[in-house]
Amino acid sequence: MAVTRILAIETSCDETAAAVIGDGRRILSNVVASQVELHARYGGVFPEIASRAHIEAIVPVIEQAMRKAHLGFDDLDAVAVTYGPGLAGSLLVGVNAAKGLALGRSLPLVGINHLEAHIYAHWLEVESEGAAPPPQAESGRGLVFPLLALIVSGGHTELILMHGHGDYEYLGGTLDDAAGEAFDKVGRLLGLPYPGGPEIQKAAQEGNPAAFRFPRAWLEDSYDFSFSGLKTAVLRLVQKYSDPPQGRLLADLAASFQAAVVDVLSAKTTRAAEEFDATAVLLCGGVSANQALRATTAERAGVPVYYPPPILCTDNAAMVGACAHQRFTSGERAGWDLDVVPGLRLV
Ligand code: KG4
Ligand code: ZN
Repeated sequence: MAVTRILAIETSCDETAAAVIGDGRRILSNVVASQVELHARYGGVFPEIASRAHIEAIVPVIEQAMRKAHLGFDDLDAVAVTYGPGLAGSLLVGVNAAKGLALGRSLPLVGINHLEAHIYAHWLEVESEGAAPPPQAESGRGLVFPLLALIVSGGHTELILMHGHGDYEYLGGTLDDAAGEAFDKVGRLLGLPYPGGPEIQKAAQEGNPAAFRFPRAWLEDSYDFSFSGLKTAVLRLVQKYSDPPQGRLLADLAASFQAAVVDVLSAKTTRAAEEFDATAVLLCGGVSANQALRATTAERAGVPVYYPPPILCTDNAAMVGACAHQRFTSGERAGWDLDVVPGLRLV
């Protein structure tokens, strides 16, 4: 059977990314140009700088993705692009590049929700890593619905019950900061470079997670989250002891903060998986690269817990291509009036 090849483009935040995906699961190429260094001095993403960097990078990144896949534009079946959620100026660069290509090459255009794409990272074939799903199954890689997805990224924290492809039920989400945002803000408080997530994970390795008992916002029986109180608790301690903390204190603060976030995320995720009879837990988004989150959730869950390799957890276009395959084969097409939707929701 002929392979369906989709060129996918992702520019929702601070990564300019393009990938070519075969049959929704084979990564023929996956190029990510990170802007992390440009934003590091601001301690977060600076929107106008992000848009300008996307404009510079988008064409070379697409060309590189095509070259690495050893394909010409005539070999493609569709062009897919993230149209939300994200930064408007960043999304516009990807959407306009995708439209130009699709129009110029008479290819169908598919618009993709960035959050849904994070979930579809689980349908990509990867060299087996950790508790990756069984590689043999042709569709859904052996995953059976309903699935419980925890989406944890820089902008979002959502618990989603996935009943089928494109069929989602929202169980809960953050009432204030996203999990990744909490990592980034606390990273700044601790004097660590942006992005804080991987830096806190590294600093935490030498620390004692029980050194400080940081608050956990359980919010009764809901599946909602709140991380702003935790952030304030870290700030108070940093101000009390030393600013910025170093050595043992830094390691203990990082480990105790990480333990508090992971405790709540993993407890609510595994409880939801049990309540809704999910066959597996899918950890999705940048924060799912976190080793402590992976290990604790796997330990607590009564069902398999899957997580993509770190490069497919953080923003990339391969996941957009995997999601687009599903949309494309079910007949979905975007019009030439496809616009960006910065506040786009999954449900
Ligand atoms: O999915 P993503 O690349 O971008 C968004 O869609 O937001 O997620 C980025 C977030 C950042 O907040 C970053 O600090 C966090 O993911 N992150 C981590 C780790 N790696 C990235 N957080 C905790 N531990 C990590 N190892
Ligand atoms: Zn993301």
